Amino acid sequence: MNIEPVNVAIVGCGHIAAGYAEDLRRYPGLVLRGVTDLDPARSRALAADFGCRSYRDSDALLADPEVAVVVNLTSHRAHVRVTRSALEAGKHVFSEKPMALRTAEARSLNTVATAGNLRLGAAPIVLLGELAQTAWRMVRNGRLGTVRLAYAEVNWGRMERWHAAPQPFYDAGPLFDVGVYPLTLLTGILGPAVRVTASATTLLKQRWTRDGQRFSVESPDFVVAVVELVDGTLVRLTTNFYVADPARQRGVELHGDEGSLWLSTWFAFGGRLEHSPLGEPYRDVPLIRTPQVTLPWAAGIEELARVAVEGGAHLTSGAHAAHVVEIVEAALHSARSGTPVEVQSRFPRPQPLSWAA
Ligand SMILES: NC(=O)c1ccc[n+]([C@@H]2O[C@H](COP(=O)([O-])OP(=O)(O)OC[C@H]3O[C@@H](n4cnc5c(N)ncnc54)[C@H](O)[C@@H]3O)[C@@H](O)[C@H]2O)c1
Repeated sequence: MNIEPVNVAIVGCGHIAAGYAEDLRRYPGLVLRGVTDLDPARSRALAADFGCRSYRDSDALLADPEVAVVVNLTSHRAHVRVTRSALEAGKHVFSEKPMALRTAEARSLNTVATAGNLRLGAAPIVLLGELAQTAWRMVRNGRLGTVRLAYAEVNWGRMERWHAAPQPFYDAGPLFDVGVYPLTLLTGILGPAVRVTASATTLLKQRWTRDGQRFSVESPDFVVAVVELVDGTLVRLTTNFYVADPARQRGVELHGDEGSLWLSTWFAFGGRLEHSPLGEPYRDVPLIRTPQVTLPWAAGIEELARVAVEGGAHLTSGAHAAHVVEIVEAALHSARSGTPVEVQSRFPRPQPLSWAA
């Protein structure tokens, strides 16, 4: 990035924060100025590990005029409040997924950002990756013909087996927590959704944390959705917090009149890409370039900082994230009502990155 260093501050110092802080070091244009958490011990520990400030609280962080970009790594239900207050303090914001749990809230965050002439970006950042960019270029180049069907498999296993605080993930459910990855990938490549039909249930209600505490899953841990895109393409998406990854069914398949494409993952920048011209065996496709890092957590922050300074198209935009929130909300509504639910929002069509154009 060929600009003055941009000061970044992190709100939320849990499981994922060290990965972000570590990856920020790869970008000379980004400086981690400080961090904060509701739990001051976590904030102090992260600040000590990465040589930055530990702010007393979010207010102190937002009052620092040197902070230009706030990175929201709090738990799912805190996302909207933290993002809104950062935008209102005049900061650009990058939010972990989901940007919001309600369409109206996601929309209003974009309104606040636009009114303040600020950039709002959000995970998933999968579209920035080499695997997604290579698949996207094959679709643009007509290697599959007209694409009419996509399958996405999200088997995310049992959060409580590895995460110390699994409850917020179950409260959000697998569609909001991880279904958003393939939804972002597929709507980015193929276009926005117009209608969703879904079915959901809870497969395993009683669960135990790693330290032996029993807890009850009150929202669906399994959701299957059929998402109709604006050009008529159907996406069949399965998400759950039950089947361990890797499962036999995994990744994303795109099927067109002239052939099919398989991506081994919907979240990493690297992975296997296989192409099958109609009726022929699948063969490996080399990626346009080799990813430097498979999971570059801070790549979306780098993009946000760059477009904030230089302008231009924003691939991990808040508008796209808000559309994905609407798809998820529509799916959950459909699962409850048993009827298809329309999706209204649109977002600026993402442009491929220059090295993949
Ligand atoms: N864990 C993963 O592998 C992973 C991967 C990708 C994305 N994410 C996303 O990253 C986010 C964080 O995940 P995590 O696993 O680090 O969760 P976590 O529960 O380990 O950490 C969340 C942290 O946010 C803090 N927090 C909550 N509300 C806050 C507030 N209002 N102000 C300041 N701090 C607050 C909590 O005290 C906690 O330390 C989630 O949105 C999740 O969807 C997680």
